[in-house]
Amino acid sequence: MGRVVVTRRLPEGGTDPLVTAGHEVVLNDEDVAFTKLQLCGAARDADALLGALTDRIDDDVLAAGGTRLRVVATVAVGYDNIDVSAARERGIRVGNTPDVLTGATADLAFALLLAIARGLPEAADSVRRGEWQTWGPTAYLGREVHGATLGIIGMGRIGRAVAQRAAGFEMEVLHTGRGGVPLLQLLARSDFVSIHCPLTPETHHLINEAALDKMKPTAFLINTARGPIVDQAALRRALTEGEIAGAALDVTYPEPLAGDDPLLTAPNLLVVPHIGSATGATREQMATVAVENLLAALDGRPMPDEVS
Ligand code: GLV
Repeated sequence: MGRVVVTRRLPEGGTDPLVTAGHEVVLNDEDVAFTKLQLCGAARDADALLGALTDRIDDDVLAAGGTRLRVVATVAVGYDNIDVSAARERGIRVGNTPDVLTGATADLAFALLLAIARGLPEAADSVRRGEWQTWGPTAYLGREVHGATLGIIGMGRIGRAVAQRAAGFEMEVLHTGRGGVPLLQLLARSDFVSIHCPLTPETHHLINEAALDKMKPTAFLINTARGPIVDQAALRRALTEGEIAGAALDVTYPEPLAGDDPLLTAPNLLVVPHIGSATGATREQMATVAVENLLAALDGRPMPDEVS
């Protein structure tokens, strides 16, 4: 039987199937992200790592696993934190958890879109501060969402789920990729731009100064994918200079973003702490899939979701 190191706390009962299958389970009781040194230590003497996006699994960590480490299962759809080609070369299989988090992440993207368009954080804060004196015909004015144009960068599972939600709001949907429009055209025409592509060398800082420049001054940017897809210094400038109307981010760099990060001085900015898939039901399903991936790999079976 194998030795499985679980790097973060999973929902209640999440690791039970590993125990039932007779594996030794080593938990990170602190539930604080492992440092590189701790990850290398965890990989040593492990047959499997059950990890998360807070673990940077590079070749040093994989090498520390020696010939024993056979599988890395991440509780996430994105796997930019794992050196997949190094894993492949070492014969270590990698699994992720797509599909089960599509709905929750698309919901959050839409929540951010609505919140930033209608100024919900500021409006709610003003009530708490006792500043709401009377209903006013010109007070708390936001932007219309229904009927607006939404540009989706990355029309994969989550991008398509966002497009379905947009249909209910009678939005015109543009998207990049097959059958879509070029990025610059999408940026120039959209009232809302929502990012749903993976982080790769090609998409790193895809939304840079030039891209933000193409957006309408009335347009909003939403990012629920990965922080480094957006150049944060350029975004801060664009918001400060009113080149775009606002931005709502579920993802940043670094994560966590410090409370005194310069980005947070920008106006019309909403940042939430990487909660796209954070519902109880979705996180339970993600843990289930990750554990199934891991059990399958340890048994030498096809993994339900293997990163190829
Ligand atoms: C979350 O960001 C994920 O990749 O699952």
